[in-house]
Amino acid sequence: MPLRCDLVIRHATIIDGTGAPRYRADVAVTGDRIVSVGDLGGMSGAEEVDGMGLALAPGFIDAHTHDDRAVLCGPQCQHCKVSQGVTTVVVGNCGVSLAPLRMSRRPPPPLDLLGDESWFTLGSFAEYGEALEKRPTNVNTLAFCGHMSLRVEAMEGDVYRAANDREIGAMQARLAEALQQGAAGFTTGLYYAPNAQATTDEVVAVGEALRAHGGIYMTHMRDESDQVLDSIRETLRIGRDIGRGAKDRDSGRETGAAERPVEVIISHHKCAMPENFGRSRETLALIDSLGQDQPVAFDVYPYPAGSTVMMPERLRQDVPVQITWSVPHPEQAGRDLDDVAREWGMTRKAAAEKLLPAGAIYFQMDEADVRRIMAHPRSMIGSDGIPHDAVPHPRLWGTFPRVLGHYVREVGLFSLETAVHKMTGRTAAIFGLPDRGTIRPGNFADLVLFDPATVADRATYKTPTLTSLGIHRVWANGVATLTEAGLTGAAPGRFIRNPRLAA
Ligand code: ZN
Ligand code: CU
Repeated sequence: MPLRCDLVIRHATIIDGTGAPRYRADVAVTGDRIVSVGDLGGMSGAEEVDGMGLALAPGFIDAHTHDDRAVLCGPQCQHCKVSQGVTTVVVGNCGVSLAPLRMSRRPPPPLDLLGDESWFTLGSFAEYGEALEKRPTNVNTLAFCGHMSLRVEAMEGDVYRAANDREIGAMQARLAEALQQGAAGFTTGLYYAPNAQATTDEVVAVGEALRAHGGIYMTHMRDESDQVLDSIRETLRIGRDIGRGAKDRDSGRETGAAERPVEVIISHHKCAMPENFGRSRETLALIDSLGQDQPVAFDVYPYPAGSTVMMPERLRQDVPVQITWSVPHPEQAGRDLDDVAREWGMTRKAAAEKLLPAGAIYFQMDEADVRRIMAHPRSMIGSDGIPHDAVPHPRLWGTFPRVLGHYVREVGLFSLETAVHKMTGRTAAIFGLPDRGTIRPGNFADLVLFDPATVADRATYKTPTLTSLGIHRVWANGVATLTEAGLTGAAPGRFIRNPRLAA
């Protein structure tokens, strides 16, 4: 009488997420967990899937998303991610989180990446967690609390200035509450006009809550172009200073007894603008040297163009711009800003202003830097996809298959094992998820079955919402979320509460 389990995937090539070489095995699942890996001829599953000729990897973890709202609207809203093999998303990035914030008027950019005021209805992180559990989706969610969301609340909307002590105290208390209610850490977007007003000391003071309650500091740095090295130094200083605690900082004491730098993650690492092309040699060397004494990682997306809100004051003639959305002129989404300006008989800047509020893609990076950053051992893959844009950057639908198809198979940038590690095991270790990100008995059954010979992105700048090729099946917590027929409609995703919350 063979042993029974819910699901056996047979004869697949296992890429286990640790970076170790592939091997052939069967994987058995019961409930939400992997129960056995090996030659399971003596086991039978209620469902059996033939994985012959295909690769089985841990479900991909999207290290950087703006899916705060997309995870609240059901499985269809995550079609872009599940169709790439994603089973977990990290939300609340770049200082922008849906909770905890209630709005009665349009939020200032870039908070409006998540939508207008009608979406900001969650007054606490606990309410966000409850919303996710009441209406689950098909991916797991790890959620961060954003500095800008805290600022808009504490500073009563007047955010184009530094916060005062009372406001900093309010933000710190709110972050502490969010961490206790499940937030995995604190993010900033110091690059953006309102948050650029925040001093390093403001960030350290608000981030103080991370020391007491546990969590990561993750940042869209103040500057990713000329001053990128200073920004990296600032980011690592923030991690160290939060770790030292206010008392030791004020007394100037170098080493406090409880000193332990807070882990920092640099978001979508890049060297922007043509005059900085090639400087990833310097940035990676600096990260490596500072990283000897404190934990630091970064995420990266596999494209030489970025995307965010439209910023007319930062346009440059040598950086092409494609419009992703516009409230007053939705018909211009997907078009080149130069073409629109010409048609309207005005300068680019005037055209950009006329489009506001709006979003854009900026072709501002060097392919060699993108590759160097992706290949670095500290990198993990994050899409930075923006799900509510009318004509989004193709990274939203294409990131993971693009790494596996274009960069592994076509370019040979690194091995398939390394690529999968940067999407799974490494990411889970950085975010503190011990039972996800690798294939081994006892772990959650987050899995993706794909064809290494055909996996490829189809999304392009002109046609950005095409699904990828070669992703056969996806399971989250043991439940199929995607098959060859498409989304299953199942919603087994969970809210992953702050894994570092001090007990
Ligand atoms: Zn960002
Ligand atoms: Cu982002």
